[in-house]
Amino acid sequence: MSQLKLSKDSWSSQTVFVMAAVGSAVGLGNLWKFPYITGEYGGGAFVLVYLACILLIGIPVLFSEFILGRAGKANPVQAMANVARENGASRLWSLIGFNGVLAGVLILSFYSVIAGWAVAYFFESLQGSFIGIDAASVGVHFSTLLASPYQLLFWHTVVSVFTILVVAKGVKGGIEKAINFLMPGLFLILLVLLGYSTTTGAFIESFDFLFSPDFSKLSWEAVLVAMGHAFFTLSIGMGAMMVYGSYLSREYSIVRAGLWIAFADTLIALLAGLVIFSIVFANGLEPGSGPGLLFQTLPVAFGDMTGGWFFGTLFFALVVMAALSSAISIIEPVVSWFDQNWGINRFKAAWIMGILIWILGIGTVLSFNSWQAVHIFGEKTLFDTLDFLTTNIMLPLGGLFMTVFVAWVLKDEIRNSELPLSDKMMRVFMFVLRWVAPIAVILVFVSNLASEEN
Ligand code: PHE
Ligand code: NA
Repeated sequence: MSQLKLSKDSWSSQTVFVMAAVGSAVGLGNLWKFPYITGEYGGGAFVLVYLACILLIGIPVLFSEFILGRAGKANPVQAMANVARENGASRLWSLIGFNGVLAGVLILSFYSVIAGWAVAYFFESLQGSFIGIDAASVGVHFSTLLASPYQLLFWHTVVSVFTILVVAKGVKGGIEKAINFLMPGLFLILLVLLGYSTTTGAFIESFDFLFSPDFSKLSWEAVLVAMGHAFFTLSIGMGAMMVYGSYLSREYSIVRAGLWIAFADTLIALLAGLVIFSIVFANGLEPGSGPGLLFQTLPVAFGDMTGGWFFGTLFFALVVMAALSSAISIIEPVVSWFDQNWGINRFKAAWIMGILIWILGIGTVLSFNSWQAVHIFGEKTLFDTLDFLTTNIMLPLGGLFMTVFVAWVLKDEIRNSELPLSDKMMRVFMFVLRWVAPIAVILVFVSNLASEEN
């Protein structure tokens, strides 16, 4: 009897864990960002580098982050301090946690603005604005939205308030339950869209664009962006997965959870890419048109296909929910740090940080209109700069030090108990963790600095 109860409890909490972690991973990164950066960096070769980064850097960092979270049992700053003490290492390792907390604040400031675009599109679709629409009118639609700071601010506010409410009230249980139908729903709609994209006449072209690499299009900058995106899309390098790892019970396999998350995340991104580029090529649109790509393409499909109103409205609702389940995990490290280390309770912390992030987000709102011509770095607007700094620098740096800690500092017995692998698998994993992942990250950083100077 008690045996039965125990196994049931751990089963349900483990499912919640995997769901929450998948909910964190799958978001705007897959649906919005992956397609548009793939378009900007020329397709196939970029995708190949991205997949290699998921495999050789992303998965090892994801495992490391779960191990550190489960061993450190706290918010990222405290978890790193705990594992450092336990392993006789310097307290400076908690800087990984600070880097993560700061990255989270900066990421959410723009993530929330983009999620706001999806909320706006949900209401537009609901009202039937996309029925029978052509590519040119969708383009006008999108640029009209971007041109209005007040509209963007309004939707950014809606997303911010919603995220704060969920995090402040700790009603994550509801969101976790929602993920149960969110992920299958998203997957099914993408399959419907995939069906549609085979009727556009440009499906093969789209497939070729994504999967036949042309290495002459590859630059060190493209490699850096592909690597950064591997971090962003798996929610790693900033402690979001560490927080989830701290809830993970001993018996559950980090390997199984990690591989499942990486698989689901990659599949959804590739499906989104296939669909979007079919529409791009069928309508003579520009693959490299930037952050608007998702919003300038999919309404064309919904406007054209049978049941498009229904599928379009449902799709944007799912995008919003996928973004929210990620947004919660982006703000969680800083909120749990305030809560546990500063005695500022979760409710207050969520509001204080949420409002700070909302204010920072105004910078991103203006990047698309009034401040469009304000360049911080080279050609980069404030939005581009925040995105670049967090995704391509802070997350890989955080992830690099996490792998170094797990590979070189963590006691063997802790690592072995956290990661029960066969001897052979452990040797492969340790080789990747000790050498391949850290050297790859450093190499990409250094090559970028070197090519900048030329
Ligand atoms: N992984 C999320 C996405 O793909 C974004 C995210 C980044 C979430 C960093 C948490 C931490 O949309
Ligand atoms: Na993702």
